[in-house]
Amino acid sequence: MPPALAAHAVEKRYRSTAALRGVDLAVDEGQLVGLLGPNGAGKSTLVKIACGLVRPSGGRAEICGHPAGSLAARARIGYLAELFRFPDWARADEVLELHQKLAGSRGGAAERSELLELVGLADARDRRVEAMSKGMQQRLGLAQALVGNPRLLLLDEPTSALDPVGRRTVRQLLEELRRRGVSVLLNSHLLSEVELVCDRVAIIASGALVAEGRPADLVKPRGVEVETASGKRVIEGAGRDDAPRIVSDLVAAGERVFGVRVLSSTLEDVYLEAVGGETS
Ligand SMILES: Nc1ncnc2c1ncn2[C@@H]1O[C@H](COP(=O)(O)OP(=O)(O)O)[C@@H](O)[C@H]1O
Ligand SMILES: [Mg+2]
Repeated sequence: MPPALAAHAVEKRYRSTAALRGVDLAVDEGQLVGLLGPNGAGKSTLVKIACGLVRPSGGRAEICGHPAGSLAARARIGYLAELFRFPDWARADEVLELHQKLAGSRGGAAERSELLELVGLADARDRRVEAMSKGMQQRLGLAQALVGNPRLLLLDEPTSALDPVGRRTVRQLLEELRRRGVSVLLNSHLLSEVELVCDRVAIIASGALVAEGRPADLVKPRGVEVETASGKRVIEGAGRDDAPRIVSDLVAAGERVFGVRVLSSTLEDVYLEAVGGETS
């Protein structure tokens, strides 16, 4: 099965700005991939290329094997833009109905009810956008992106405007979507969020991919810390597998061990190293 999203050597130049400099990225079927990077790194540009809203200057992008922007590709994606605004006067149900028309979905009222239920807006189907909190609008935006049962969801900073409770709701929703086999590319500058929910993380800086992998594989061991009667010290280069031997060697040497801790870098350390101190 072709990946939900495959970007091959994708480049984008806006006049003198090189927004993307040859990015390779794949989102496999059912995977949740986090795209991290400072402001201006090229995250939104990559997502817009996957949507077919922006044409790459070089390379190519495919959705489930179809060229990005083609009808077949567009039928398989759902997109929530970084900055979106639904008409103030529209009711939740009407917003979804409009998007069903735009997407050519025949799901009808049943699809709308199911989506509102999924994003926790079942009780707000008749509420107008103007009477919704930012978090509710964001969840309506996610429901909109799911109209027509897309294979790939492209979410550009879906939680940046949300409080911690709203973020957790979105995270739980993403986990539910993964259970359903929907593939997701999630742009975010919120490391903790990506670390908690994504199968894989790609970090881009200045238009280039600088790190990629499973969060657990990206973080590196930083040694084993032991606490003995003479205080705490770190055995550099040691990992989890070395901990039992370290402790037994210390005990055999007559030391008393009060604590042992395996240290690893956080995704934040990996990120800061990868982007070379660029701030977002
Ligand atoms: N429509 C555009 N015209 C000119 N430059 C753009 C346009 N869109 C984005 N850029 C530039 O391309 C670079 C990448 O932008 P963007 O993809 O929005 O980054 P991110 O989403 O990571 O913040 C930035 O330097 C930005 O200013
Ligand atoms: Mg952006």
